[in-house]
Amino acid sequence: MDPEGWPGVVYHEGGIGHRLPTEVDRGRKGPAGKYGPGFLNPAMAGNRTRSVLMLEHLGKTVLGDVKKIQILDALCATGIRTRRWLREASDSVSNRLSVKMCDMDEEALEWARLNLENDKLSENVEIIQGDARKEILRQGWHWIDLDPYGSPVPFLDLAMQATARKSVISISATDTAALSGSSPGPLRRRYGARVHMDRLKHDSGLRVLLASAAKAAARHDRVIRPLLSVWDSHHLRITILVERSKMGANAVEENLGWRVASPDDSVVESAIQAGLLPEHDSGSRPMHVMLPMNAYPDLNAGVSGPLWTGPIGDSGLMASMSEAAAEEICKDGDSDGDPGEIKRARQAVRRICDESKAIHGSHLVVTDALPSFVGEGDPPSPSKMAEALREEGFCAEVSRYAEPSFRTDAPWSFVLQAFRRLH
Ligand SMILES: C[S@@+](CC[C@H](N)C(=O)[O-])C[C@H]1O[C@@H](n2cnc3c(N)ncnc32)[C@H](O)[C@@H]1O
Repeated sequence: MDPEGWPGVVYHEGGIGHRLPTEVDRGRKGPAGKYGPGFLNPAMAGNRTRSVLMLEHLGKTVLGDVKKIQILDALCATGIRTRRWLREASDSVSNRLSVKMCDMDEEALEWARLNLENDKLSENVEIIQGDARKEILRQGWHWIDLDPYGSPVPFLDLAMQATARKSVISISATDTAALSGSSPGPLRRRYGARVHMDRLKHDSGLRVLLASAAKAAARHDRVIRPLLSVWDSHHLRITILVERSKMGANAVEENLGWRVASPDDSVVESAIQAGLLPEHDSGSRPMHVMLPMNAYPDLNAGVSGPLWTGPIGDSGLMASMSEAAAEEICKDGDSDGDPGEIKRARQAVRRICDESKAIHGSHLVVTDALPSFVGEGDPPSPSKMAEALREEGFCAEVSRYAEPSFRTDAPWSFVLQAFRRLH
């Protein structure tokens, strides 16, 4: 029997129409709350757009030799993410997908089932009603999507045990108060970490989540490589590559450590010796530095961590996520796509492609913080700062971050020189 309210109303996202029991405000931002059955949060549309683009790229590269890509959409609700993967990825990827969609909510799954009915590739999808924590362990997966309410911690160890030789895991977290440091209790409890509440707190939160994933992977003889890390209004999302490697798992702490705000000279020297700052930074005092795990900084002095100290994204994947690629997936058959959806899709990836060129850099600089740090001047434009540093031969790009900022591999002294030249 059809669920109450079917066929409901059509909600448009990306290149598809998706039926829902009630009207959803497409422009809604922030957490959705539990709408009850038929749950869908339009504020997660950008997250899903990026998910399609990542599948498109990784399906042809990292997973290019996998004939049937086994995917678990572990907390699928009405299944819009799976439908977008199937409908918006190119044939060479979508034809190879074998998706299991799981949710506890029977009624949401009824909507999923009916929505899928007329989709070309619906025979590649199996719908399972039940607890994702059981379903994850049933087989090995090439791709696991974890999109829970709140913290993903209950699912991390399970997902790490269920990866194939090489797998991608995407993890959403909506416990932003914990991960940005404003709820220190839950942050310590769930992630065993602390976050100093300065202007890099969102980046620190992403890195704390990456560190939790890295530690969970290591517990199961696996290593992670961050592919994309984004803080998007009310949620964080990391996507990582997970591979089996006992040796790599033994060395997990090589990528973990601390972030220290306003470091003194000895902290800067330790960061240089650990390879976490360019040597040229000797004698300078950057706004923040990273320290390795074994540095044991004074935890009362502006310290965040343990967190992931390496790059938080993969340049190749990020470079593939252009606005043109985002526009492309909104096309539906012969139609060029809805202009509003195209605009939103482009917005969902804005700056990611450019930032790929500087994602390896050790400095993420919030430009509004520069004048008070230096003691003079006005906030410079991030794009002008990045341009000035590129002219000096460094990699520098405006960052997709919660505050106006840029990322660069330039030593701190060059950042200051550029700031002084510009103001
Ligand atoms: C944030 S929503 C998922 C949204 C969905 N991924 C999308 O893109 O529309 C979280 C979903 O997880 C389901 N859920 C929560 N705990 C679960 C569990 N242990 N096993 C299966 N489903 C669960 C809820 O019923 C809800 O539909």
